[in-house]
Amino acid sequence: MQNRLFIEKAFLNGEFITFERTFSVVNPATGQAIGQLPDLTVENCREFIDVAHESWTSWRTTSIAERASILNRLFQLIEQHREELAQIMTLESGKPIQESRIEVAYANSFVEWFAEEAKRSYGQTIPTQDGKSRLQTIKQGVGPVAAITPWNFPLAMLTRKVAPALAAGCSVVLKPASQTPFTAIAFAKLSQEAGLPDGVFNLITSKDSKGIGEELATNEKIRKISFTGSTEVGRTLMQQASSTIKRISLELGGNAPFMVFKDANIDEAVKGAIAGKFRNAGQTCVAVNRFYIQAQVYDQFKDKLTAAVSQLKVGPGIEEDSQVGPLINQSGLEKVERHVQDAVNKGAQIEIGGQRINGLFYQPTVLSNVSRHASISFEETFGPICALFKFEHEEEAIQLANATPFGLAAYFYSQDVQQCFRVAEALEAGMVGINTGMVSNAAAPFGGVKQSGLGREGATQGLDEYLEVKYLNFGG
Ligand code: SIN
Repeated sequence: MQNRLFIEKAFLNGEFITFERTFSVVNPATGQAIGQLPDLTVENCREFIDVAHESWTSWRTTSIAERASILNRLFQLIEQHREELAQIMTLESGKPIQESRIEVAYANSFVEWFAEEAKRSYGQTIPTQDGKSRLQTIKQGVGPVAAITPWNFPLAMLTRKVAPALAAGCSVVLKPASQTPFTAIAFAKLSQEAGLPDGVFNLITSKDSKGIGEELATNEKIRKISFTGSTEVGRTLMQQASSTIKRISLELGGNAPFMVFKDANIDEAVKGAIAGKFRNAGQTCVAVNRFYIQAQVYDQFKDKLTAAVSQLKVGPGIEEDSQVGPLINQSGLEKVERHVQDAVNKGAQIEIGGQRINGLFYQPTVLSNVSRHASISFEETFGPICALFKFEHEEEAIQLANATPFGLAAYFYSQDVQQCFRVAEALEAGMVGINTGMVSNAAAPFGGVKQSGLGREGATQGLDEYLEVKYLNFGG
């Protein structure tokens, strides 16, 4: 590939390294290998951690101005290499190129945000009762951080963790998903060019996600672990991290409801549904999984949504006009097929789609009259399927929306202001989109409740995740 950022190496202590054993990364649109990467071991991982720990001792003492200026340079470099990054991202994730370009900009908004936010990690002066001592708090970086990132947003999930960690004075060992490591390696190259000192950011590539994850979660030298991925893996990492009482942030699975109330603007709701459902072929944690539509507008919404879905262009992400790419792998495709089949077996009608196309491509699908007992109503699908359920009353919709162990994003459409406040406050979710199908924004706290995770990313809260509060008592 003619792209200087496409590098088939891991990154340790400022150097790109090879290893005798390698693994292939495959383009999900074609099934063809696009490159080979070092298949590093748990023993290698300890070396990565030692390097991060060593470099932390000097990085933590750098001034905030210095860290901010490196992050600002990195922001400029990402901006300049937007197209190269997007091309790599599409190649390894299958994401439509238009979406990859948007993701690069979204990812970079975290770099920009945290370059600024680091300057505002204020402590406090606490009034004393006796008038003699002086009490203060200061904030300091937690120490070396392990970040484990998913395949669905190869750059944005990285910058949402790494930018605040670096801004806070932490060093990092990153383990990107083995399906999409090349975008992360391109980031490593740009971080080096931006002047980040050697060893402050390290990137380990490996097929052994389980072994590396366990080492990162249990190693004493790592003070914090941040993970985005499935609830199942998050639970394991949380257990493992408890052995060293590590700080932990988890951004896990969702099962987002999308409600349309009877006086909603239906055209706007359809636009929001397409945005909230078909981004990355439905493979996002905040993707709408369940559509609850009030009986009075059910048919109207169903027909307009079906018409909009029929216009979506499915194709390899590298084609400029492609809007829906392939699923990431065979097991992702099989889950989609299983959910559709199960819904149909339980009485759902297929309004459009419902078939595999070829390879890992699946038709954008609308299912109506889905049973509340269908798997799709309680399991995250991670695919381009709209499952429509009918409801009669607001309380019923809220009860259905909340009837899940997950609570990441929720969305609803209504033009009744009182209803907007009532429903937004009643929903058990970390993020609520009201008359919008998108909630992601670097300035806003991203995260879930219940089994969707712990902690917040982005915003002021996203920096606090990498900071400890230290209390100072100046006696006498
Ligand atoms: C995710 O699906 O985990 C992230 C989506 C986003 O940040 O918008």
